[in-house]
Amino acid sequence: MSDVNDNPQEQDQSESQPRRTIRSFVMRAGRMTEGQQRGVEKGWPLFGLDLADGPLELDALFGRQAARTLEIGFGMGHSLLEMAQAAPEQDFIGIEVHRPGVGALLNGLLNAGLSNVRVYDCDAIEVLNQAIPDASLDRLLLFFPDPWHKKKHNKRRIVQPAFAELVRRKLKIGGVLHMATDWEHYAEHMLEVMSAAPGYRNQAADGTYIPRPDERPITKFEKRGERLGHGVWDLKFERID
Ligand SMILES: C[S@@+](CC[C@H](N)C(=O)[O-])C[C@H]1O[C@@H](n2cnc3c(N)ncnc32)[C@H](O)[C@@H]1O
Repeated sequence: MSDVNDNPQEQDQSESQPRRTIRSFVMRAGRMTEGQQRGVEKGWPLFGLDLADGPLELDALFGRQAARTLEIGFGMGHSLLEMAQAAPEQDFIGIEVHRPGVGALLNGLLNAGLSNVRVYDCDAIEVLNQAIPDASLDRLLLFFPDPWHKKKHNKRRIVQPAFAELVRRKLKIGGVLHMATDWEHYAEHMLEVMSAAPGYRNQAADGTYIPRPDERPITKFEKRGERLGHGVWDLKFERID
């Protein structure tokens, strides 16, 4: 696994990144369970990807041509595992900075005997910028990203105009950015940013949100939201240019 600096500010001021970057995550300490440790030890050599290896050649990486989905911030990997199991004919790349989550997904991949998933354990923005070829993705998934509720923290939300443009470049024409959130203000923010972003078409008939699509597995965040009486908002934007 790559050596991610636990202090974002320190890392942001390194020579390779002279400009201070605002990150959408904070590295959380977390002990790994035995299963997660096994996932990292045995699964990382099989499924782990390193930014230092540079741009990916996806057909060579997966040994075939297939529909390709990338999930940013997969958490404990439940959705990604379920989707990859349900669609062995498709390829998936997951990105998550939380180590126990990475371990959990890797352990799940080993247990399920899957070979159609690869994993990064670092900042998704760096992965998109440095490793994912342009026009290579059929879908990019962003499920329940950190909402950064407080106004002074809103700038840390991953969905911003520059993110929309970066994602547009990585999607194929016709490829789709699918987002979901249980935080209404973030849903409104996503809608505002994406509606103003050039080169996209909102797939919602009324130009706002879509009904929950069957292909999105229900996450623990969604279940918790439901228990608390919160809504969930799904948005799908297709690259048209
Ligand atoms: C609120 S959690 C949701 C997890 C999962 N998608 C779910 O629905 O259960 C958001 C996750 O995104 C990850 N994350 C946030 N920014 C990220 C980034 N720039 N690169 C990779 N992971 C990121 C966090 O570590 C966190 O695990």
